Amino acid sequence: MSNFDSIDFFTDQSLVPDPHPYFDYLRSQNPVLRLPHHNVVAVTGWEEANAVYKDPETFSNIVALGGPFPPLPFEIEGDDLTPLIDAHRSQFPMFEHMVTMDPPDHTRARSILSRLLTPSRLKENEEFMWRLADRQLEEFLDNGECEFISEYSKPFATLVIADLLGVPEEDHKQFRTVLGADRPGARVGALDLESVGINPLEWLDDKFCSYIEDRRSAPRDDVLTSLATAKYPDGSTPDVIEVSRSATFLFAAGQETTAKLLSAALQALGDRPEIQRQLREDRSLIPNFIEESLRMESPVKSDSRLARRATTVGGVDIPIGTVVMVLPGAANRDPRRFDSPHEFQLDRKNVREHMAFARGVHSCPGAPLARVEGRVSIERILDRMSDIAISETQHGPADGRRYTFEPTYILRGLSDLHLTFTPRPALEPAR
Ligand code: HEM
Repeated sequence: MSNFDSIDFFTDQSLVPDPHPYFDYLRSQNPVLRLPHHNVVAVTGWEEANAVYKDPETFSNIVALGGPFPPLPFEIEGDDLTPLIDAHRSQFPMFEHMVTMDPPDHTRARSILSRLLTPSRLKENEEFMWRLADRQLEEFLDNGECEFISEYSKPFATLVIADLLGVPEEDHKQFRTVLGADRPGARVGALDLESVGINPLEWLDDKFCSYIEDRRSAPRDDVLTSLATAKYPDGSTPDVIEVSRSATFLFAAGQETTAKLLSAALQALGDRPEIQRQLREDRSLIPNFIEESLRMESPVKSDSRLARRATTVGGVDIPIGTVVMVLPGAANRDPRRFDSPHEFQLDRKNVREHMAFARGVHSCPGAPLARVEGRVSIERILDRMSDIAISETQHGPADGRRYTFEPTYILRGLSDLHLTFTPRPALEPAR
């Protein structure tokens, strides 16, 4: 336990399988605690995380994804870093995407998304999800076993975003291949650009630029046209590349995270037969099951901010230039907010208070989508698969499971999840 004082959270692989004893230790020292490495202050308390998330005036998002890496490209000086952050913005990773922007640029970039996330678009997208879930399950159902992440959760999460953006169905296969949705371990986005011979985000930018240019010159009655003709709130027209980036970032933000939620949910079903039985008996419990899965296994492990000026959080002094790292999974198991926080409780009353989707101006715009993806997937999986169990051949017996988690401090999720089950025939009429 004592080496928790000196352990390097960013590199120590012993924290990967289960970071919660470490998070609990940090919180017991102080919910806002300076770590021994990289000038980082870790936030493990719910109240304190909320305070950081709700204060974009003090905390810049410029380091949201990488935290202390790479180091700041300037020397800290003066009593407000805002001018220095703005002058060096382009030296930060992913600076061109909304997640690292600050208001007012962030507000403009995010406004483009409102074109996509309308109630009617989300409804059409849900209809696609039901069809997609059936199609995806058909690919492996007869085998009675699967590697759930490469065979279901990743291709599903990828194609839902493709559909949301109005990518024509004839291009879906290409998206699935280029984005590595069928390959275990492949990732899209800032977090780890796996090579498929090309950079997936650049490929996406090119692809969307050509869609947008095409729709601007020859408008049609489709989603890509409404994206192409979206205007900023002040009435000005965004550059093609700006629209394209708002679109492509959805893949980086929404593919891995949702795939991790789905695999955490299936792991819970396999490891907790009692919960599987309850869900089969009462499907109305599914939304709470999804929320509790998000609370217990929050896919975003760390989410950082840069203190533009000296401040305090939870009574702790935060000097100017400090990287403040919120740990949503730790905040979600803060015993001051959640009773018996390490227990999976299907009927947890305040489960929606979890912070898996963050809070404040950057809070996840894809949350409603991810929730529906979870609900639709679990419904169809329960319909088509009975006796879902964790593969003992791959992961060991119930009292000695062996799971491998992604070796990153940014995300939390299984690398692979092997399941066994009994296939069930499709319901008639199909949804
Ligand atoms: C379970 C699934 C998901 C989780 C846990 C999740 C989590 C998060 C979190 C914690 C943030 C905040 C980042 C920050 O504060 O710096 C975020 C932002 C974001 N998410 Fe999600 N997300 C999920 C799914 C999705 C989906 C499906 C989409 C879209 C299709 C999406 C799109 C975005 C975008 C565009 C941002 C940036 C928002 C901004 O900077 O204003 N996410 N997400």
